[in-house]
Amino acid sequence: MEEKEKNLILDDEKDILLGHEYDGIQELDNPMPPWWLYGFYFTIALSVVYLLWYDVLGIGPSQSEEYQREMEQAAARYGIESPADAPAVDFASLEVFTDSENLELGRQVYIRPTQLCITCHGAQGQGLVGPDLTNDYWKHGCDLPSLMVSIREGFPQQGMPAYGSGQRLTDLELQQLASYLISLRGTEPEGAKPPDMSRSEPCEL
Ligand code: HEC
Repeated sequence: MEEKEKNLILDDEKDILLGHEYDGIQELDNPMPPWWLYGFYFTIALSVVYLLWYDVLGIGPSQSEEYQREMEQAAARYGIESPADAPAVDFASLEVFTDSENLELGRQVYIRPTQLCITCHGAQGQGLVGPDLTNDYWKHGCDLPSLMVSIREGFPQQGMPAYGSGQRLTDLELQQLASYLISLRGTEPEGAKPPDMSRSEPCEL
């Protein structure tokens, strides 16, 4: 009896055979299992609800609204202003630090392994791949704001990434670092790289 049932099913296969064959393999037109089918219908229904909710009716927040909201929550929680609200610092209005505390903080930024300054400009600023930073010859300006801009922007064409390594510095760190470089001026470290006279104007401060 069981044998017969099996044969019956096999005999019926010819009715649901799809008419193609590859390397002797044929395909039956079996119905999808119901759990799969209902799952499929469910996702279609859900996509319609999703589309209406977020895009057509705009009830749900968009990505940028969610981002904005999270930034506001973070600002409220950690007391940070969002970058857009922070007033842009006018570098020209800043003073060169001359006190030992700020110069020491600047020195620490200069030798910080993640900033890479010393790998190109040397531990004493004497210059290696990059130019000597202790002499009076500058290409991009020798005053505090020019130095801060030089460091912030870097010279990607010449091989110096922004901030030396791409690792961001705060405006205060930039000010301390640039002040430290100014304090190195005229120190004549050993092995100082000669200035490239063809492109350098003596620094007038
Ligand atoms: C990968 C190498 C490299 C690193 C790292 C690097 N620099 Fe430079 N830097 C250069 C080169 C090359 C130049 C010359 C750019 C030019 O000729 O226009 C330069 C130029 C400068 C100048 C402008 C000099 C001028 O004549 O006006 C300053 C200031 C400076 N670097 C500071 C720094 C500080 C501070 C750091 C670390 C935060 C740093 N650099 C990290 C390669 C580097």
